[in-house]
Amino acid sequence: MKTALITGASDGIGEQAARQLAGDGWRVAVIGRNPDKTRKVAQDLGALYYIADFSSLSQVAALAHRLLNDFPRVDLLSLNAGGIFPKQAPTEDGFELTFQVDHLAHFLLTNLLLPRLMESRAKVVSTSSIAHKMLGFRFDVSDVAKPRRYSQHLAYGNAKLANILFTKELHRRYGDRGIASAAYHPGFVATNFANDKRSPMGLVYHTALRKLMRMLSPEEGADTLVWLAKTTPGQDWQSGQYYVKRKQVRPSKKARDADLAKALWDRSQALCAPYLTKTEGKE
Ligand SMILES: NC(=O)c1ccc[n+]([C@@H]2O[C@H](COP(=O)([O-])OP(=O)(O)OC[C@H]3O[C@@H](n4cnc5c(N)ncnc54)[C@H](OP(=O)(O)O)[C@@H]3O)[C@@H](O)[C@H]2O)c1
Repeated sequence: MKTALITGASDGIGEQAARQLAGDGWRVAVIGRNPDKTRKVAQDLGALYYIADFSSLSQVAALAHRLLNDFPRVDLLSLNAGGIFPKQAPTEDGFELTFQVDHLAHFLLTNLLLPRLMESRAKVVSTSSIAHKMLGFRFDVSDVAKPRRYSQHLAYGNAKLANILFTKELHRRYGDRGIASAAYHPGFVATNFANDKRSPMGLVYHTALRKLMRMLSPEEGADTLVWLAKTTPGQDWQSGQYYVKRKQVRPSKKARDADLAKALWDRSQALCAPYLTKTEGKE
């Protein structure tokens, strides 16, 4: 039986991917933040569920240890939790919330699971966004975790660019050690995403304006993720690359910058150092 660990599986795209894979006979770990929503999805699927708030790296580390205990094999790690958030206080760890939830928590989770992912020849799939192109143009590795100037849209663009850079660097480091990685844009999907109606993105997603966007259903939004999960890297798709509607697409120039990908990995490793032992996240 194939196994999938899916973050952000309590709602939206992640929930639909969990439902589709479970329907196809996969064993799914439903990972969410809201206990009631997460439990409900897991109960529907007869699956195990896990609660962790990614604004706390200690909760992410505890999650990783529970997953290692419960899943001797992992075929898919779906790094999907996230969103765009109005300005909030720094996380428990002192970092900007969007950067931590959308990128850093997933960096830590992946690194803590690395030996299991390599043994299992797992796929690691990051839910990125086309927003990396429009909103990720000011990405600065030295500033991104604690930005001097904040905008929720730029923070989101940076985080979604980080998802693609992470995918690229994960492939460079571990592609020949069993891990296949991909990032994808799900399309514009009618979910709880961007539910701050005072923001421009919130207005587009959650008012009558959404009719202009030809929004996808959550089921449609999960299509590329489920396709990546069920097909074969090296044959149907290429590790380290970015996908839209099941097709490989060239991401932004910054997203293709190998030096930037390495710099982000090194910075993320330093930020997560209290939770990483010396055998994890090497190079
Ligand atoms: N919708 C779109 O048009 C669109 C477009 C491009 C990319 N994306 C990306 O798609 C992914 C899924 O979003 P969605 O559209 O499905 O939105 P959604 O319905 O709001 O789902 C977001 C998921 O992320 C989880 N999450 C949020 N903050 C968290 C935190 N602090 N700790 C742990 N989990 C947290 C939520 O958990 P709880 O519900 O349990 O709180 C939920 O399961 C995100 O990465 C988003 O950036 C979405």
